[in-house]
Amino acid sequence: MNQKSAYERIVRPLLFSLEPETAHHLALGALRFASNFPSLLRLLRRFQPPSRPTTVFGLSFPNPIGLAAGFDKNGVALPAWEALGFGFVEIGTVTAKAQSGNPKPRIFRYPEQQALINRLGFNNDGADVVADRLRKLRAAGRWPRIPIGINIGKSKVTPLEKAADDYLYSFRLLHVLADYVVLNVSSPNTPGLRSLQGQDSLVRLLRVINSENRETARPVLLKIAPNLSAAELEPIIVACQENGVAGIVATNTTLDHSSIPSAQDETGGLSGAPLREKSTEFVRTIRVRTRLPIIGVGGIADGASAIEKLTAGAQLIQIYTGYIYRGPALLREIAASV
Ligand SMILES: Cc1cc2nc3c(=O)[nH]c(=O)nc-3n(C[C@H](O)[C@H](O)[C@H](O)COP(=O)(O)O)c2cc1C
Repeated sequence: MNQKSAYERIVRPLLFSLEPETAHHLALGALRFASNFPSLLRLLRRFQPPSRPTTVFGLSFPNPIGLAAGFDKNGVALPAWEALGFGFVEIGTVTAKAQSGNPKPRIFRYPEQQALINRLGFNNDGADVVADRLRKLRAAGRWPRIPIGINIGKSKVTPLEKAADDYLYSFRLLHVLADYVVLNVSSPNTPGLRSLQGQDSLVRLLRVINSENRETARPVLLKIAPNLSAAELEPIIVACQENGVAGIVATNTTLDHSSIPSAQDETGGLSGAPLREKSTEFVRTIRVRTRLPIIGVGGIADGASAIEKLTAGAQLIQIYTGYIYRGPALLREIAASV
C-alpha cells in the first residue's frame, strides 16, 4: 500500500482511541458543524476527487462513489459530504417512529480484519424530524448539488404485518425531499425485517409504495442482504422487475462471522473487507439475471475493490467501513482508479 495519509497517521489513531460509537458521533459532529460554515466547507473541498460524471436511473452523479446508508442516518451533514467529494449520499435508515436502537455498546472494530460489527438497530430521529431538517436545509439554500438518497426501514414497534404501512408513512414524508428512495429490507438488526425479502411481503410492500409514488415519482431501489440463496434471490429480482423498482443496492451487512475469531465475536451485521467477495459475487449474480442498475456496496477499501464491483456489473458504488479505516484519501484513490 502507498504512503499513509494524514487521516491514517493522525486522525484515525485519535478516533480509534475512543469507543467506536463515541468516535462516530465526534466525527459526524465535526462534519455537521463544518456544514454550517462556507470557509470550513472550502477546506474540506481540498479532498475532492476529479469529477467523473455518470447518469443512472435518470439522475446525474458527479462521480459514482457514494456514502452508504447508516453513516449519516439523520441527514445532518449533507453539505460536508458533498464538499468531501462524494458523488452521492444515502441517508437513513429512517423509520416512521423515532427510536433509540439497541443497548450500547453496539459497534465493534476489528482492525486486523478491516471490519466492523454493528447491532445499532435503526437508531434515528424518525421520519418527521428528518423531513423537517431536510426541508430547512433546502429553504436555507444549502442543499447539495449531488443526488441524495433516503433509505427507509420498519420501526421496531410496528408488527411485521403492518410493515408496508410503516414504510408508507416515511415514504410519504420523505420521497419528495429525496432524489431516490431505498427500501431497506435487509438489516439483520431489526427482528423479522429480512423476511420482507420473501416474495409475498415484498410484492405487497412494492405495490403499497408504488401507489404513493405517482405525481412526484422518485426512483425506488431495494437493498438486499448478502445471505440470500439463489432460490431466494430469483423471486426478488422478478418482483423488482414486475413492480417498477429502479435498482438494487447489494449488499447490506452479513451474518457470516467466520472471519472473526470466536472469542471476539459479537452479535450483529459484519461489514468491511470480509464482506467484499460475497457482495461482489452477489452483484455478479444479479447482473446476469437483470439489466436493473446496481449499487455495489460491501468491503470497498481501495481502487482495486472498487473496480471489482464495477466490473461485476455495478453502475454505482458505496463505501462505509473502508472510509472509517482509510478516511477521505480513499475517495481520491478510488476516483483515480475507476
Ligand atoms: C455502523 C453501521 C451502521 C449501518 N447502518 C445501516 C443502516 O442504517 N441502513 C442500511 O441500509 N445499511 C446500514 N449499514 C450497512 C452499510 O450501508 C453497508 O451496506 C455495509 O456496511 C457494507 O458496506 P461496507 O463494507 O463498505 O461497510 C450500516 C453499516 C455500519 C458499519
